[in-house]
Amino acid sequence: MIPVCEPLLDEKELAYVVDCLKTNWISSKGKYIEAFEEGFARYCGCKYGVATTSGTTALHLALAALGIGSGDEVIVPAFTMAATAFAVVYTGAKPVLVDAEPDTWNIDPAKIEEKITSQTKVILPVHIYGHPCEMDAIMQMARKYNLWVVEDAAEAHGAEYKGKRAGSIGHVGGFSFYANKIITTGEGGMVVTNNPEIAQRARLLKDLAFSPEKRFLHLDIGFNYRMTNLQAAIGLAQLEKVDHLVAARRRNAHYYNRFLKDMPGITLPVERKEAKNVYWMYGLLIEDEFGMSRDELMDRLREKGIETRTFFYPMHQQPVFQKMNLFNGEKYPVAEALAQKGLYLPSGSGLKKEEIEEVCQTIKEIRARI
Ligand SMILES: Cc1ncc(COP(=O)(O)O)c(C=O)c1O
Repeated sequence: MIPVCEPLLDEKELAYVVDCLKTNWISSKGKYIEAFEEGFARYCGCKYGVATTSGTTALHLALAALGIGSGDEVIVPAFTMAATAFAVVYTGAKPVLVDAEPDTWNIDPAKIEEKITSQTKVILPVHIYGHPCEMDAIMQMARKYNLWVVEDAAEAHGAEYKGKRAGSIGHVGGFSFYANKIITTGEGGMVVTNNPEIAQRARLLKDLAFSPEKRFLHLDIGFNYRMTNLQAAIGLAQLEKVDHLVAARRRNAHYYNRFLKDMPGITLPVERKEAKNVYWMYGLLIEDEFGMSRDELMDRLREKGIETRTFFYPMHQQPVFQKMNLFNGEKYPVAEALAQKGLYLPSGSGLKKEEIEEVCQTIKEIRARI
């Protein structure tokens, strides 16, 4: 089976983890935490990094550090992974949806303004599958209405917009280090920012808001979102080869583009000229012209030993939000079409050129036999 994604771990990760074990630093203090926070923040072009337990908790922590809560509204894309919207709901605020752009699959900046109300506090763009959002337009809108911008960069380690790294363009960025992410800590996440007050607040809240003056006195409801030194040890080893991991993702996309570009009925992912897409996952749209539905193609690929995944289901179609009467009657046609037509192919950094050729050849053969 060619899997959708596998982490690339080697002797470095092993050595750093063994070091934690041998020195007894297995909890959430230790040299790897500091080195990973500092190193990853610097990699993103940010001054501060606050490591967390996941991408979901990084987003929640970022919003909590900004003081977002009940009565507030946060603008999120209709087309994203549910964790983006969950993080908003955890704070007590209301997620407000905006449809996607048909080519980048990111939040459509032209449709944000009509969703801004007096309660809006944050725009939360998501760099879908590694392509950065149109950040100039988003930042301009945020300035006009005095809003925060929290970037969900869970899928976009190393992606760039006009030369700036994803996560560093808004006021705060949130990353995931789940095992399929470009760099991983198994489970984990990070808040990055250039704003010292936000960083300080995030650091306080992620550690149960222990009072710095008197331990066991708490002035706030904090969370235990602490990453362990063991996880950070893996993260640091991964960070040391991040350029290679990003280059591998881009090389995969280059091969896929080359082999699939002339195939009718398939829409390939884009890379806008001001953007560096890191192709966390190599996504495709299976159009009517292909002659077979997306789901049928996925079944056939599975039979041939090739794993794929569907795109995300839009937020307004999520059963949990329907149960909460959150987006009733709302329509997001681009997000709906993406969910119907989209799939992603094997995309891991360890994928070989021959495997990509095999995937593309198999798609060609399946189509030829329709
Ligand atoms: C866009 C997006 N946001 C947030 C998350 C949540 O990250 P985690 O799984 O680390 O909680 C993910 C996870 O895959 C994601 O794709």
